[in-house]
Amino acid sequence: MSSRTPLIAGNWKMYKTVPEALETAEQLKEAVIDISGREIVISPPYVCLFPVAVALKGSNIVVAGQNVFWEDEGAYTGEVSPGMLKSAGCAYTIIGHSERRQYFGETNETVNKKIKMSIAAGLTCIVCIGELLEERETGRTFAVLETQLSEGLDGISAPQMAAVVIAYEPVWAIGTGKTATTAQAEEAHRFIRSRIEHAYGSEVSGTTRILYGGSVKPDNIDQLMAEEDVDGVLVGGASLKVESFSRIVHFVVLG
Ligand code: 13P
Repeated sequence: MSSRTPLIAGNWKMYKTVPEALETAEQLKEAVIDISGREIVISPPYVCLFPVAVALKGSNIVVAGQNVFWEDEGAYTGEVSPGMLKSAGCAYTIIGHSERRQYFGETNETVNKKIKMSIAAGLTCIVCIGELLEERETGRTFAVLETQLSEGLDGISAPQMAAVVIAYEPVWAIGTGKTATTAQAEEAHRFIRSRIEHAYGSEVSGTTRILYGGSVKPDNIDQLMAEEDVDGVLVGGASLKVESFSRIVHFVVLG
Protein backbone atom coordinates (compact mmCIF):
# COMPACT_ATOMS: atom_id res chain seq x y z
CA MET A 1 0.00 0.00 0.00
CA SER A 2 1.16 3.53 -0.69
CA SER A 3 2.04 5.97 2.08
CA ARG A 4 -0.61 8.41 0.89
CA THR A 5 -3.41 8.80 3.45
CA PRO A 6 -6.67 7.60 1.85
CA LEU A 7 -9.21 10.38 1.39
CA ILE A 8 -12.90 9.58 1.18
CA ALA A 9 -14.99 12.59 0.17
CA GLY A 10 -18.75 12.91 -0.19
CA ASN A 11 -20.10 15.52 -2.57
CA TRP A 12 -23.70 16.14 -1.56
CA LYS A 13 -24.35 18.35 -4.62
CA MET A 14 -27.70 20.19 -4.35
CA TYR A 15 -29.27 17.82 -1.85
CA LYS A 16 -30.39 18.32 1.78
CA THR A 17 -31.85 21.27 3.67
CA VAL A 18 -30.06 22.55 6.78
CA PRO A 19 -31.96 20.26 9.20
CA GLU A 20 -31.46 17.26 6.89
CA ALA A 21 -27.76 18.01 6.54
CA LEU A 22 -27.35 18.31 10.31
CA GLU A 23 -29.14 15.04 10.93
CA THR A 24 -27.00 13.20 8.36
CA ALA A 25 -23.79 14.73 9.72
CA GLU A 26 -24.63 13.77 13.31
CA GLN A 27 -25.40 10.19 12.29
CA LEU A 28 -22.30 9.94 10.12
CA LYS A 29 -20.15 11.17 12.99
CA GLU A 30 -21.25 8.19 15.08
CA ALA A 31 -21.00 5.74 12.17
CA VAL A 32 -17.33 6.52 11.44
CA ILE A 33 -16.15 7.23 14.98
CA ASP A 34 -13.82 4.21 14.83
CA ILE A 35 -11.92 5.41 11.75
CA SER A 36 -8.37 6.68 11.93
CA GLY A 37 -5.63 6.89 9.32
CA ARG A 38 -8.20 7.84 6.67
CA GLU A 39 -9.39 11.35 5.91
CA ILE A 40 -13.14 11.84 5.69
CA VAL A 41 -14.57 14.90 3.95
CA ILE A 42 -18.18 15.89 3.30
CA SER A 43 -19.29 18.69 1.04
CA PRO A 44 -22.81 19.93 1.84
CA PRO A 45 -24.47 22.87 0.04
CA TYR A 46 -23.17 26.34 1.01
CA VAL A 47 -25.96 27.19 3.46
CA CYS A 48 -25.29 24.00 5.45
CA LEU A 49 -21.52 24.41 5.75
CA PHE A 50 -21.31 26.43 8.93
CA PRO A 51 -23.83 24.49 11.04
CA VAL A 52 -22.44 21.16 9.81
CA ALA A 53 -18.85 22.25 10.54
CA VAL A 54 -19.91 23.26 14.06
CA ALA A 55 -21.65 19.93 14.58
CA LEU A 56 -18.55 18.02 13.40
CA LYS A 57 -16.01 20.00 15.39
CA GLY A 58 -13.63 17.63 17.15
CA SER A 59 -14.73 14.69 15.01
CA ASN A 60 -12.72 12.90 12.31
CA ILE A 61 -14.83 14.44 9.51
CA VAL A 62 -14.00 17.75 7.85
CA VAL A 63 -16.12 19.94 5.63
CA ALA A 64 -15.58 21.17 2.06
CA GLY A 65 -17.17 23.74 -0.21
CA GLN A 66 -18.52 22.45 -3.53
CA ASN A 67 -17.29 25.54 -5.35
CA VAL A 68 -15.62 28.86 -4.59
CA PHE A 69 -14.97 32.23 -6.25
CA TRP A 70 -11.53 33.65 -7.09
CA GLU A 71 -11.70 37.03 -5.33
CA ASP A 72 -11.43 37.78 -1.61
CA GLU A 73 -14.47 40.03 -1.59
CA GLY A 74 -16.33 42.48 -3.80
CA ALA A 75 -19.51 43.12 -5.76
CA TYR A 76 -19.98 39.57 -7.03
CA THR A 77 -23.57 38.78 -6.17
CA GLY A 78 -24.11 35.15 -5.33
CA GLU A 79 -20.46 34.20 -4.98
CA VAL A 80 -18.52 32.95 -1.94
CA SER A 81 -14.80 33.58 -1.40
CA PRO A 82 -12.13 31.16 -0.18
CA GLY A 83 -11.77 33.15 3.06
CA MET A 84 -15.51 32.87 3.65
CA LEU A 85 -15.37 29.10 3.22
CA LYS A 86 -12.49 28.98 5.65
CA SER A 87 -14.40 31.14 8.17
CA ALA A 88 -17.39 28.79 7.88
CA GLY A 89 -15.18 25.91 9.00
CA CYS A 90 -14.10 24.41 5.68
CA ALA A 91 -10.70 22.79 5.30
CA TYR A 92 -11.27 21.84 1.66
CA THR A 93 -13.06 23.02 -1.42
CA ILE A 94 -14.00 21.16 -4.57
CA ILE A 95 -13.01 23.06 -7.72
CA GLY A 96 -13.91 22.43 -11.36
CA HIS A 97 -16.53 19.73 -10.90
CA SER A 98 -17.82 18.61 -14.29
CA GLU A 99 -21.31 19.84 -13.42
CA ARG A 100 -19.87 23.32 -12.95
CA ARG A 101 -17.98 23.01 -16.22
CA GLN A 102 -21.14 21.77 -17.99
CA TYR A 103 -23.83 24.07 -16.55
CA PHE A 104 -22.01 27.12 -15.17
CA GLY A 105 -19.27 27.90 -17.65
CA GLU A 106 -16.34 26.74 -15.55
CA THR A 107 -13.15 26.56 -17.61
CA ASN A 108 -9.58 25.49 -16.94
CA GLU A 109 -8.76 29.19 -16.60
CA THR A 110 -11.37 29.83 -13.88
CA VAL A 111 -10.34 26.60 -12.20
CA ASN A 112 -6.76 27.90 -12.13
CA LYS A 113 -7.75 31.23 -10.56
CA LYS A 114 -9.88 29.48 -7.95
CA ILE A 115 -7.07 27.08 -7.00
CA LYS A 116 -4.58 29.92 -6.51
CA MET A 117 -6.90 31.97 -4.30
CA SER A 118 -8.04 28.95 -2.32
CA ILE A 119 -4.50 27.83 -1.55
CA ALA A 120 -3.68 31.38 -0.46
CA ALA A 121 -6.64 31.25 1.93
CA GLY A 122 -5.42 27.98 3.45
CA LEU A 123 -7.87 25.60 1.80
CA THR A 124 -6.94 22.27 0.26
CA CYS A 125 -8.36 22.01 -3.27
CA ILE A 126 -10.02 18.91 -4.70
CA VAL A 127 -9.55 19.66 -8.38
CA CYS A 128 -11.86 17.70 -10.68
CA ILE A 129 -10.85 16.61 -14.16
CA GLY A 130 -12.27 14.00 -16.52
CA GLU A 131 -13.23 13.25 -20.09
CA LEU A 132 -16.64 13.13 -21.79
CA LEU A 133 -17.85 9.85 -23.29
CA GLU A 134 -17.28 11.17 -26.80
CA GLU A 135 -13.71 12.12 -25.89
CA ARG A 136 -13.04 8.63 -24.56
CA GLU A 137 -14.59 6.99 -27.59
CA THR A 138 -12.45 9.04 -29.94
CA GLY A 139 -9.24 8.23 -28.09
CA ARG A 140 -8.76 11.67 -26.61
CA THR A 141 -8.91 10.82 -22.87
CA PHE A 142 -5.24 11.42 -22.12
CA ALA A 143 -5.11 14.59 -24.23
CA VAL A 144 -8.11 16.03 -22.36
CA LEU A 145 -6.66 15.14 -18.95
CA GLU A 146 -3.31 16.60 -19.92
CA THR A 147 -4.87 19.93 -20.96
CA GLN A 148 -7.07 20.11 -17.86
CA LEU A 149 -4.00 19.49 -15.68
CA SER A 150 -1.56 21.81 -17.43
CA GLU A 151 -4.02 24.71 -17.71
CA GLY A 152 -5.70 24.12 -14.36
CA LEU A 153 -2.41 23.91 -12.46
CA ASP A 154 -0.60 26.61 -14.45
CA GLY A 155 1.62 28.63 -12.12
CA ILE A 156 1.02 26.38 -9.10
CA SER A 157 4.39 25.68 -7.45
CA ALA A 158 5.68 22.36 -6.14
CA PRO A 159 5.19 23.38 -2.48
CA GLN A 160 1.66 24.56 -3.29
CA MET A 161 0.86 21.09 -4.66
CA ALA A 162 0.71 19.92 -1.03
CA ALA A 163 -2.67 21.68 -0.97
CA VAL A 164 -3.94 20.06 -4.18
CA VAL A 165 -5.81 16.77 -4.53
CA ILE A 166 -6.81 15.64 -8.03
CA ALA A 167 -10.18 13.95 -8.56
CA TYR A 168 -10.46 11.96 -11.76
CA GLU A 169 -14.15 11.86 -12.61
CA PRO A 170 -14.91 10.49 -16.07
CA VAL A 171 -18.04 12.47 -16.96
CA TRP A 172 -19.76 9.41 -18.45
CA ALA A 173 -19.52 7.64 -15.09
CA ILE A 174 -21.11 10.40 -12.98
CA GLY A 175 -24.61 9.60 -11.78
CA THR A 176 -25.01 7.00 -14.51
CA GLY A 177 -24.33 3.83 -12.53
CA LYS A 178 -21.53 3.14 -15.04
CA THR A 179 -18.36 2.97 -13.00
CA ALA A 180 -15.08 2.98 -14.83
CA THR A 181 -13.52 -0.45 -14.54
CA THR A 182 -10.74 -0.60 -11.99
CA ALA A 183 -8.34 -0.98 -14.91
CA GLN A 184 -9.69 2.18 -16.59
CA ALA A 185 -9.44 4.10 -13.32
CA GLU A 186 -5.89 2.88 -12.65
CA GLU A 187 -4.81 3.69 -16.21
CA ALA A 188 -6.09 7.26 -15.95
CA HIS A 189 -4.67 7.73 -12.45
CA ARG A 190 -1.28 6.46 -13.52
CA PHE A 191 -1.33 8.87 -16.45
CA ILE A 192 -2.25 11.78 -14.16
CA ARG A 193 0.54 10.87 -11.76
CA SER A 194 3.01 10.71 -14.64
CA ARG A 195 2.00 14.22 -15.75
CA ILE A 196 2.43 15.52 -12.20
CA GLU A 197 5.84 13.86 -12.09
CA HIS A 198 6.74 15.47 -15.40
CA ALA A 199 5.76 18.91 -14.07
CA TYR A 200 6.89 18.68 -10.45
CA GLY A 201 9.18 15.67 -10.02
CA SER A 202 8.78 12.36 -8.26
CA GLU A 203 8.54 13.65 -4.70
CA VAL A 204 5.41 15.68 -5.48
CA SER A 205 3.91 13.01 -7.73
CA GLY A 206 4.49 10.40 -5.05
CA THR A 207 2.64 12.38 -2.41
CA THR A 208 -0.20 13.92 -4.44
CA ARG A 209 -3.47 12.13 -3.86
CA ILE A 210 -5.60 11.18 -6.83
CA LEU A 211 -9.24 10.34 -6.13
CA TYR A 212 -11.64 8.46 -8.38
CA GLY A 213 -15.22 9.68 -8.77
CA GLY A 214 -18.17 8.35 -10.76
CA SER A 215 -20.76 5.89 -9.42
CA VAL A 216 -18.65 4.81 -6.46
CA LYS A 217 -20.78 2.47 -4.35
CA PRO A 218 -20.36 0.11 -1.41
CA ASP A 219 -20.06 -2.79 -3.85
CA ASN A 220 -17.16 -1.38 -5.89
CA ILE A 221 -15.17 0.60 -3.30
CA ASP A 222 -12.91 -2.24 -2.16
CA GLN A 223 -11.80 -3.07 -5.71
CA LEU A 224 -11.19 0.60 -6.56
CA MET A 225 -9.13 1.21 -3.43
CA ALA A 226 -7.01 -1.85 -4.20
CA GLU A 227 -5.55 -0.06 -7.25
CA GLU A 228 -2.11 1.33 -6.59
CA ASP A 229 -2.78 4.85 -7.85
CA VAL A 230 -6.30 5.25 -6.45
CA ASP A 231 -5.81 7.17 -3.21
CA GLY A 232 -9.42 7.77 -2.38
CA VAL A 233 -12.80 8.55 -3.88
CA LEU A 234 -15.18 11.43 -4.48
CA VAL A 235 -18.67 10.07 -3.97
CA GLY A 236 -21.92 11.66 -5.13
CA GLY A 237 -25.17 9.72 -4.76
CA ALA A 238 -23.85 7.09 -2.35
CA SER A 239 -22.61 9.79 0.05
CA LEU A 240 -26.13 11.02 0.81
CA LYS A 241 -27.07 8.02 2.95
CA VAL A 242 -25.14 7.35 6.13
CA GLU A 243 -25.18 3.59 5.69
CA SER A 244 -23.68 3.56 2.20
CA PHE A 245 -21.15 6.34 2.82
CA SER A 246 -20.06 4.72 6.08
CA ARG A 247 -19.47 1.44 4.23
CA ILE A 248 -17.38 3.31 1.66
CA VAL A 249 -15.36 4.99 4.42
CA HIS A 250 -14.87 1.52 5.97
CA PHE A 251 -13.48 0.11 2.69
CA VAL A 252 -11.75 -3.21 3.11
CA VAL A 253 -8.09 -3.42 2.17
CA LEU A 254 -7.88 -6.39 -0.18
CA GLY A 255 -4.82 -8.55 0.21
P1 13P B 1 -21.98 9.87 -8.41
O1 13P B 1 -21.21 9.15 -7.32
O2 13P B 1 -23.41 10.13 -8.03
O3 13P B 1 -21.80 9.23 -9.73
O4 13P B 1 -21.32 11.34 -8.52
C1 13P B 1 -19.95 11.45 -8.65
C2 13P B 1 -19.57 12.86 -8.48
O5 13P B 1 -19.87 13.69 -9.31
C3 13P B 1 -18.84 13.24 -7.25
O6 13P B 1 -18.35 14.54 -7.34
